[in-house]
Amino acid sequence: MYPLRRNRRLRNNEVIRNLVQENTVTPNDFLVPLFVVEGKGIKEEISSMPGYYRYSLDVLDKEVRALWNLGLRSVLVFVKVSDSLKDNKGTEALNPNGLMQRSIKTIKTACPDMLVMTDVALDPFSVYGHDGIVKDGQILNDETNKVLAEMSISHAQAGANFVAPSDMMDGRILRIREALDSLGFVNTGIMSYSAKYASSYYGPFRDALDSAPVDLIDVPKDKKTYQMDPANRIEALRETEMDIAEGADIVMVKPGLCYLDIVREIKNNVRVPIAVYQVSGEYAMLKAAVEKGWLDHDAVMMEQIIAIKRAGADIIASYFAKDVVRLLNG
Ligand code: PBG
Repeated sequence: MYPLRRNRRLRNNEVIRNLVQENTVTPNDFLVPLFVVEGKGIKEEISSMPGYYRYSLDVLDKEVRALWNLGLRSVLVFVKVSDSLKDNKGTEALNPNGLMQRSIKTIKTACPDMLVMTDVALDPFSVYGHDGIVKDGQILNDETNKVLAEMSISHAQAGANFVAPSDMMDGRILRIREALDSLGFVNTGIMSYSAKYASSYYGPFRDALDSAPVDLIDVPKDKKTYQMDPANRIEALRETEMDIAEGADIVMVKPGLCYLDIVREIKNNVRVPIAVYQVSGEYAMLKAAVEKGWLDHDAVMMEQIIAIKRAGADIIASYFAKDVVRLLNG
């Protein structure tokens, strides 16, 4: 009790502050999202994500080497495919020579020890911009799971270390685990997007991949029948516990900042590593405020990252990964 206890003694100077600091950020915390496109020599900025790019495979090769040299060792791969390759059943997603499969090989050739995680969902391949097969205004669950399991096998065959299903179909983790095991891919891991909310913060990402749900009669305009209601907390635990029971090695909460209470809730209740995805809209908000001169980029970025860590994240998927590591490296 005061005056015996003066908490400010532990904040008196930088050395004591560092000595008692409870959480730290290191390059090992990060998973770097990568967007890949067809073509040659392409590094195109995503208009709603200033400073973030889509790469063609030849440029991707250089980018992953640069990440490795910075100390970043894990990537999460997304592909943007042309409209002509899209349909309602993810045909192109299963192409052994598809863009995702070639991306995995390119990364593994450039940096064999880079940990490669791949996005597993139908939306980049869907004419309707949905994560599953669409029929009569519904997103089909079990039929979609079959494709997700085949997609996972295809990614494992191309060399992915982890598959990361981001679709929120029920039961897909078990289907994917069974499929991988049946072909001997027992060491291919699953990072499940377990508590993924139907968030409006995904807008810039959908620009990046041209994957927004289309505006057509008989096609749902949003993803609320599979992604979670932002109002719910207990449901996040239920989703996460089910995914762990089905075989998820790593679980995820997404988006990040608005959902840190969920991160802590899950951290207190489960015993597997937790990833947090600081999503595209979160990135865009800070970049926009900085462009206006209203916020200090690096200071706010670090405050956000440490908040995600403090909430309980073991892994942070973030578009700021390079910026953070450059700052840490001084
Ligand atoms: C889709 C997917 C989305 C993101 C990752 N995978 C968007 C969505 O669900 O519509 C969003 C990532 C971001 O906003 O940074 N399977």
